[in-house]
Amino acid sequence: MSIERRRRGQISDSLRREYPHLRWSDPPYSVAPYVPTPIKVVRTMLKLAGVGPEDLVYDLGCGDGRILFIAVEEFEAMGAVGYDINSSICEPVRSKAEKRGLRDRISVVNGNFFLADLSPASVVTLYLTTSGNTKLRPKLEEELRAGAKVVSHDFPIRNWTTIKPEPPEFYTVGSHKIYVYKIPDAFDRRRDVPRSPEEESRWKRIRDIFLRGESR
Ligand SMILES: C[S@@+](CC[C@H](N)C(=O)[O-])C[C@H]1O[C@@H](n2cnc3c(N)ncnc32)[C@H](O)[C@@H]1O
Repeated sequence: MSIERRRRGQISDSLRREYPHLRWSDPPYSVAPYVPTPIKVVRTMLKLAGVGPEDLVYDLGCGDGRILFIAVEEFEAMGAVGYDINSSICEPVRSKAEKRGLRDRISVVNGNFFLADLSPASVVTLYLTTSGNTKLRPKLEEELRAGAKVVSHDFPIRNWTTIKPEPPEFYTVGSHKIYVYKIPDAFDRRRDVPRSPEEESRWKRIRDIFLRGESR
């Protein structure tokens, strides 16, 4: 086994001990495989988030960039930023934006979104996994500003409360679920309960692991 693989194995093991519910069969920083959101679902996600000309939409794990283009072209969002660790899908998104004259409004970063600065986002879209959302949750809580919306396709953010007042807590498009959260209402109730030292150190560990990976 290569040093790289061994190192990855160690990272996985330590995280698995810490997070027994997480699946680490994917490459270390990937928290979801590529599966596109159907266009109809994308439109409903952006509509539910109330996307308009004032918005800067971040799609974390942007795949073919469909959410970015629909946000800018149909919902007239000021801009859209996508992150994806898969380099082969990022480049075509950039060329498409270039061809459509949208390079100043759509940008794509080929990298790990756990290292992104999310503070400029007014809307964040996700189509990851529940475990991926759990790992991302502390970052969203720390970096997103008040009023920002988080819209997640099919997977909830555990311990957060959606904006939907009546059950079920999600909207549907066919068999697809859409969870909409508003910052800080989504987790405000938990704010009275300070993060436990364990939760705090878990988040720091995850961040350190990603930062270490980045500097390799
Ligand atoms: C299910 S796809 C969603 C694609 C797109 N957002 C959509 O809804 O059509 C998830 C994407 O997240 C990307 N991804 C997973 N973990 C990531 C990470 N840590 N940083 C950046 N991208 C990641 C994968 O490469 C994949 O393209």
